[in-house]
Amino acid sequence: MKIQLMNVQRQHETHAEEYEEAALSVLRSGMYIGGSEVTSFEEEFASYEGARFGISCGNGTDAIVLALRALGVGKGDEVITPAWTFFATAESIAITGATPVFADVDPKTYCIDPAKVEEAITEKTKAVLPVHFYGQSCDMDQLRAICKKHGLYLVSDCAQAAGTKYKGERKNILGDVSCFSFFPTKNLGGDGDGGMILTDDENIARACRSLKVHGSGKDGLWTLKREYEMKGLSFPENMPVGESKYYNYLIGYNSRLDALQAAILRKKLTHMDEFVEGRRKNAALYNEALRDTSYEIPFEMPETEHAYYIYALKHPNAQAIMEILKSEGVACGTYYPVPLHLQGAFAHLGYKPGDLPVTEDLSRTTFAIPVFPELFDEEREYIITALKNAEKNLEAEK
Ligand SMILES: Cc1ncc(COP(=O)(O)O)c(C=O)c1O
Repeated sequence: MKIQLMNVQRQHETHAEEYEEAALSVLRSGMYIGGSEVTSFEEEFASYEGARFGISCGNGTDAIVLALRALGVGKGDEVITPAWTFFATAESIAITGATPVFADVDPKTYCIDPAKVEEAITEKTKAVLPVHFYGQSCDMDQLRAICKKHGLYLVSDCAQAAGTKYKGERKNILGDVSCFSFFPTKNLGGDGDGGMILTDDENIARACRSLKVHGSGKDGLWTLKREYEMKGLSFPENMPVGESKYYNYLIGYNSRLDALQAAILRKKLTHMDEFVEGRRKNAALYNEALRDTSYEIPFEMPETEHAYYIYALKHPNAQAIMEILKSEGVACGTYYPVPLHLQGAFAHLGYKPGDLPVTEDLSRTTFAIPVFPELFDEEREYIITALKNAEKNLEAEK
């Protein structure tokens, strides 16, 4: 048997007709940029997650960059974030000109440790950027309290957490601004790149709306006027002012969600319960089967409803186990093999091995196995057997 780690083709096949009809109707409409598919998807996704405003954009990385820019984060600022995440989280901070400051994660939840966040706060800290890692919610009560106490923005990286609940509700994983990715393998994955920013704050929403289209239009004007007001300056009288896209007020980006993606994502959103339940069911069955083995199964905080973007096991011999699984046709991998504080791109920040011991240990001892909702029962059983055999083989080699 050959089993992929993530199988987006199978997801497409499950509701192929619906998705293909949606795509065809966009192709025939001639409305490829913006339009009602995009605005409807923004409203529907914001409502699904429990936010007032949804601002779509090109991908999850841009969503974080736009969110930070809208908050005024830039050169000279520090943003506290985990190193146990995908590169884009900290890369986005660096793109704004700010400095990522890495805090270690909790050894049970794999999410940023609130106590370490508090230790990392300095006069330069402007925001905290937690990641709901693998689809488990961070400890949002503690993070919110820390941000409130120190006057910091809370920016949630929800790229892996569409559908995740904290304290019974999806909206409880959101921060002042929250950033989602619709990369095809994600819990809600498009047929290409896509992203979304969610917020309840109209000022942030308007700044994001303008920044994603070259800082133009009435939202750009509104945002620039607000910046002048906040600085106590009067708005220049001779500035050319108009509300069309050819009047630019901010240095922004070109980051849009295509109408084609929006139309497909709208259809997929109607199946979100099925997707999340499928992931949770697979995770529960793995947990049951592996509870009394040498594998450490994922810890699910009682306050959270984990969406299992990734199901990772922990084992002191993870590398050897992965080799055996691969030889049995089971795709697996470490998410992520190089912690961000040790990545070459961040070498200038001066971190060294040993600085974040929990993160570094997880990068050596954890590995993900297939958990996608369309996994067949016999495939899951095959994976469980392969895991148990791998454990036995290693035991016998000792
Ligand atoms: C935690 C995290 N943050 C950010 C991103 C960036 O999203 P995208 O690939 O859509 O740019 C991803 C996904 O790839 C991610 O997993």
